[in-house]
Amino acid sequence: MTRKLFYQISIVPLLAGVVACSEKSAPENSVGQQVFQGTCKVCHAGGINGAPIFGNKKMWEKRLPQGIDTLVSHAINGYGLMPAKGGNTSLTDEQISHAVNYMVQHVKQP
Ligand code: HEC
Repeated sequence: MTRKLFYQISIVPLLAGVVACSEKSAPENSVGQQVFQGTCKVCHAGGINGAPIFGNKKMWEKRLPQGIDTLVSHAINGYGLMPAKGGNTSLTDEQISHAVNYMVQHVKQP
């Protein structure tokens, strides 16, 4: 009897942990990741033409203060050597916004 109770108690936090983890990768984020992998990575993984490299805090910290809205609008409309929508005009503004958020999240994390 006590043994059964022990199993019940120990499995609850375990399940809660699994649920909490899967919530972390919200749908929004996976859209951003997909767009990034499909279009943005080509330049932003290695820094082609001076593109701020994915995950490189130093390269992003000068750009972040202009705010997410400006970053998104630069990504949509183009900015310097950054082509509008990364050259993939079939992407929607919303997909671009997810991709920018995805990139920014990765340099904002401590
Ligand atoms: C052809 C290469 C290329 C592709 C593809 C590309 N970028 Fe860029 N990106 C650049 C370059 C180069 C810069 C730096 C522009 C500058 O500062 O002159 C840049 C800068 C940026 C910036 C910072 C803009 C700012 O205001 O500082 C964001 C945000 C960005 N890109 C998002 C994206 C997203 C999202 C995608 C995918 C949809 C993408 N880029 C695809 C080359 C690219």
